[in-house]
Amino acid sequence: MSFTADRLILFGATGDLAQRMLLPSLCALHGDGLLPADLRIVCTARSDHDDESYRVFARAALETHLPADRRPAMEDFLARLFYQQLDATRREGYRELAARTERGADGKAGGLAIFLSTAPSLFEPTIAGLANAGLTQGNVRIGLEKPLGTDLASSREINDAVAAAFPESRIFRIDHYLGKETVQNLLALRFANILFEPVWNANYIEHVQITVAETVGLESRVAYYDDSGALRDMVQNHMLQLLALVCMEPPTSFDATAVRDEKVKVLRALRKVDASETVIGQYRAGALDGSAVPGYDQELGKESDTETFVAIKALVDNWRWKGVPFYLRTGKRLPERVTEIVVQFRDVPFSIFGARGATTEPNRLVIGIQPEENIELALMAKVPGLDREGIRLRRVALDIAMRDAFSGHQRRIAYERLLLDLLEGDQTLFVRRDEVEAQWEWIDGIRAAWADASRAPRPYPAGTWGPSAAIALAERDGVSWHDD
Ligand code: BG6
Repeated sequence: MSFTADRLILFGATGDLAQRMLLPSLCALHGDGLLPADLRIVCTARSDHDDESYRVFARAALETHLPADRRPAMEDFLARLFYQQLDATRREGYRELAARTERGADGKAGGLAIFLSTAPSLFEPTIAGLANAGLTQGNVRIGLEKPLGTDLASSREINDAVAAAFPESRIFRIDHYLGKETVQNLLALRFANILFEPVWNANYIEHVQITVAETVGLESRVAYYDDSGALRDMVQNHMLQLLALVCMEPPTSFDATAVRDEKVKVLRALRKVDASETVIGQYRAGALDGSAVPGYDQELGKESDTETFVAIKALVDNWRWKGVPFYLRTGKRLPERVTEIVVQFRDVPFSIFGARGATTEPNRLVIGIQPEENIELALMAKVPGLDREGIRLRRVALDIAMRDAFSGHQRRIAYERLLLDLLEGDQTLFVRRDEVEAQWEWIDGIRAAWADASRAPRPYPAGTWGPSAAIALAERDGVSWHDD
């Protein structure tokens, strides 16, 4: 069923995500003339607003979070916004919401997109309310923001509730990492070049590192984060999606079914992890960029066993990846904000330069996702000279900064693409139910292993790369994390 939505309902419209990402993305798309011309955006939340006061609220969010050069058309954009106050747990409000969304009455074609950016506990009542008000029938699709549950069982419950009202083809589960340009570029790198595919396997790749490091701490998300922790907040979704894109077999086409079929095979091939293959940590007071920052327990106001750092050695049990370790690492209050994938190749099987005193170092591909988008391939080269005292070889980088290579192109917020795909109905960059469930199954196994081993997070000072055990986790395999 292909349609472009001409109405969008935004649940959680006064929340943090709406202010920082959703409204700015929609406004930027509007400014570039990319939103459907007659799109109405009905915003809803529990707060008491009318259209006018919500537009004032939205304007403030845009002024704070959208760069000035991307908001010239703000007035026109604000005119697209309407507000309907709603307590998602009470049925009554949904009828008014349906009326505000102006659907059904005129039997007009077009379609509705619904975006839920609310606590997962509200998903079920919201879907029941929408169904009751006739807002799930016909040309309707629904976008769901994470977290989709806290474990496999709760995620199944949510998925079942959504499936009762929407077929899978109309459910858009968001992982905003899939909307990031360089994450998609990973697919271009792998599947639009002949160079890498022949060496993209256990015969040539020694290990892979995936790091998602953040400098921020708890921010204002006390209740959510302390119930979640780094494993469920970052590994279950974003990091496993990155891993799946690195590992998957070439899909037969760049479409939703083909891509997701390949990703889910990888997720299902993840080997169950032993507690000894993981390290968890929690930041204590320390310093970042020369400023003192408090510890997690101080920010929280109590002691807690929640991990703010996790490192895992993962293995993918299939033909292509047999025995190749994937070192995953993420944490808050680390020394820098960086998301990158490091593919470490094996050394040459025999060096013809050895007898001339030169050593070789294996090739390495670094895919920088943020803050800088770049692709760096480390190659061996000869140091210029007459070599009377032996040949000298040195590692040099072929370095492509995406910003320079594509300088005339607008950099976009991940949500711009995802919201547009939701309105237009392209599921390729959204996560299918079987993927989410395979992700949870693996994560539940890790949490069970931690519980069996009575694992508690080790402290690390804010501004460092996590507990020293994380270094040891890689070093005992002769691997160093790529921290330079
Ligand atoms: C979110 C997590 O999904 O991703 C946050 O809940 C994290 O804890 C954020 O800070 C990171 O996103 P990005 O795009 O800044 O890397």
